[in-house]
Amino acid sequence: MSSLKFVGICGSLRRQSTNRGLLRAAQAGLPAGVSLDVVDLSDVPFYNADLADKPDSVKRVLAQIGAADAVVFACPEYNYSMAPALKNIIDWASREPDNALLAGKPASIMGAGGGMGTSRSQYHLRQVCVFLDVHPLNKPEVFSNAFAGAFDADGNLTDAHLQKLVADQMQALANWTRLLRPR
Ligand SMILES: Cc1cc2nc3c(=O)[nH]c(=O)nc-3n(C[C@H](O)[C@H](O)[C@H](O)COP(=O)(O)O)c2cc1C
Repeated sequence: MSSLKFVGICGSLRRQSTNRGLLRAAQAGLPAGVSLDVVDLSDVPFYNADLADKPDSVKRVLAQIGAADAVVFACPEYNYSMAPALKNIIDWASREPDNALLAGKPASIMGAGGGMGTSRSQYHLRQVCVFLDVHPLNKPEVFSNAFAGAFDADGNLTDAHLQKLVADQMQALANWTRLLRPR
């Protein structure tokens, strides 16, 4: 079976982010033949059309997205919607000619937040995916509570049930990617 490259994008910039912890759990639970690199958004500036010569940080992340077969979004919920760092890199990527980095790309979405498990922000992200022609996996959904003991103080996912759910999502994303983009 062909190998697959996933790229992970986390909307939280803080060091002990539980959403980045979900991506580390995804890395730990990948199916055979699948890799997952997580991008660094800490030095990516706000999208500005005046920056015609893109900053190196933007070029670096866009190259990672372009090289990936699928995107894994870790989507925090800020005020019932997506965190700005996540929307910002999507906006940067969407301005490439013909939306070439995102159009037709498979994706999956996971998130850690308050009691609703980031469901509201994830559904906003799904709406954005419609316009960008990104194809998010429907199931399994990963809605996790960041404040109920499933993560340690460093943001690592310690809950075995959620670890399995995240691993199941990675297997489903591999299947989905091979279905959409046969090679
Ligand atoms: C500006 C801001 C707004 C927030 N709004 C929400 C919200 O609407 N719903 C929610 O579940 N959590 C909300 N939270 C709490 C975040 O879900 C929580 O900080 C979460 O741990 C962030 O993910 P992280 O651990 O990856 O940084 C908010 C946090 C911030 C900083």
